[in-house]
Formats: sequence, structure tokens, C-alpha cells
Amino acid sequence: MADRLIELREVTKSYGRVFALGGVNLHVDRGEVVGLIGDNGAGKSTLIKILAGVVKPTAGAILVRGKEVHNWNGARSRDAGIETVFQDRALAVQQTIVRNIFMGREIAGGLGFLRIRKEHAEAERLMREIGFTSKVFTPESIVGQLSGGERQGVAIARAIYNKADLIVLDEPTTALSLTETEKVFRFVRAVRASGRSILFIGHNIHHVHDIADRFVVLDRGRVALEASRAEMDTAEKLIAFMEHVAHPKGVNAFDPSAAVLEIRQ
Ligand SMILES: Nc1ncnc2c1ncn2[C@@H]1O[C@H](COP(=O)(O)OP(=O)(O)OP(=O)(O)O)[C@@H](O)[C@H]1O
Ligand SMILES: [Mg+2]
Repeated sequence: MADRLIELREVTKSYGRVFALGGVNLHVDRGEVVGLIGDNGAGKSTLIKILAGVVKPTAGAILVRGKEVHNWNGARSRDAGIETVFQDRALAVQQTIVRNIFMGREIAGGLGFLRIRKEHAEAERLMREIGFTSKVFTPESIVGQLSGGERQGVAIARAIYNKADLIVLDEPTTALSLTETEKVFRFVRAVRASGRSILFIGHNIHHVHDIADRFVVLDRGRVALEASRAEMDTAEKLIAFMEHVAHPKGVNAFDPSAAVLEIRQ
């Protein structure tokens, strides 16, 4: 078996009579970038909230390095080395890069000024590690002055400081320009080169295709496709598949009522 980091088996999540996830199998191996795609309401956010331990699955199993972990929660998710960069509450924009990286988990020991020096050096090291080099910014720069792609870099650096083995990025390139998207890709490639894994959630299939080694397409709470980059070697193939899934005969997936699985009684 490949170097399996995390695996979901038959994970289901229902909200009352609505299934947000209807039996999802998904795994991420060490050192790979998995692209998770799907229309609005497909269940992507629900899936990553389950991985982060903030939403409890209704049924199913979660395995870490091949072993099932019971009573999955936020602490167990962090212990498993999963760090999620949520889209909205990722960073404190009025604070410095250093403050953002160490927020809540300051380097221990030493007097104030010593700790600050250590954190500064560690922030520089982390930024170098992910290829975040800048002639303009230092670890003392305010995050609000950074571009969108660079902010993702700060969040990724923080995840690495928090000992992430798997970094989950929720739509990291949505609303970013091409140049900024390229920056995020550079960080993602550096993370992969270090042997860590990335779960990359995206709306833009071209973006996901450019960066992921493997693709998982969610459709109305189920995995509609799992394919390697070799199988889906062009974004167009992936798009063609998505269109086939999104517009099956007689069903309009953009109708929100069609975007969930109803329990039939
Ligand atoms: N707290 C909740 N209560 C009830 N239904 C929910 C809840 N959270 C999600 N759902 C439903 O579950 C389904 C999956 O939602 P989810 O947010 O996971 O989709 P998504 O793929 O992230 O969509 P988007 O691309 O719009 O972010 C949707 O039909 C949604 O309405
Ligand atoms: Mg979502």
C-alpha cells in the first residue's frame, strides 16, 4: 500500500433528511496533492470540516496512517497532522506575519525579546522553506499589506509550523489573479517537495488540474470520479467529465434542490 496518510471510509453526513455526504471514500497519501472539485452544494466544505473535526460524521470511519481513530474531533485531527486553511477566517490582517504564524502557539521559553528573535528567525526559515521570498516584506510586515497569494503563503507557513502533514486549502486561488495563483502553486509545490500532502479544494478546474496529482470529483454528496493526472491528462477531459456529471439527462445540478440527496422513505 502506498504511504497512506489519511483515509475516509463510507463517510456520511446528514442534516435531518438531507445528505450532505452520502458514503464518501477518500484518501490522501504522503507527498501528494489531491484536488477536490465539485459544484456548489456538492459537499466539499462538509468534507473538509469533517477532516478538521469541527463537524461530526453521521457514519463512517476515519483512518490515520492505516489505523482507525475513534471519537474523531478537532484535537485528534490536529494530532493526526491535519491543518486546514479555511477561506474566511484564515488570518488576522492587522497583525504581522510573525504574529500570524505563531498565533496561539508561541515559541516557548526565553525572555520576551529572545522569543521574538527566535520567532523572527523561525518565520524567515518557514517562509524560505515554502519559497516565499520577497525583497519588500519581512516577518514584521503587516499581513494586510500582502497580496492574496502571499497571504495564502503565510497561512501555509503557519500550518507547517503547526507540524502539518496534510494541509487542506479551501479555495486558495478563488478571486486571485494569474500571478497570485502562480505564487500559491509555488508554495504548494514546495510543500509537496518536503513530503507533506495537500488537499486542494477549487472551483476553477484549470487551477486544480494544474496543481493536483490526483482528482476527486464530488457530486451531490458522492464521489463521482477519482482519477490520477495520467488518466485525466488535460483540464478539458476533466471539464468534459464534470459537465457530463453536472448535466445528466433531465436534471439540472444548478438547481439547489437537485444538489442534495433526499432520503426516500
Ligand atoms: N449546517 C447545515 N445544515 C443543513 N444543511 C447543510 C449544512 N451544511 C451544509 N448543508 C448542506 O449540505 C450540502 C453540501 O454543502 P457544502 O457546504 O458541503 O457544499 P460545498 O461543496 O462546499 O458547496 P460550495 O461550493 O457552495 O461551497 C448542501 O446542500 C448544503 O445545503
Ligand atoms: Mg463550500
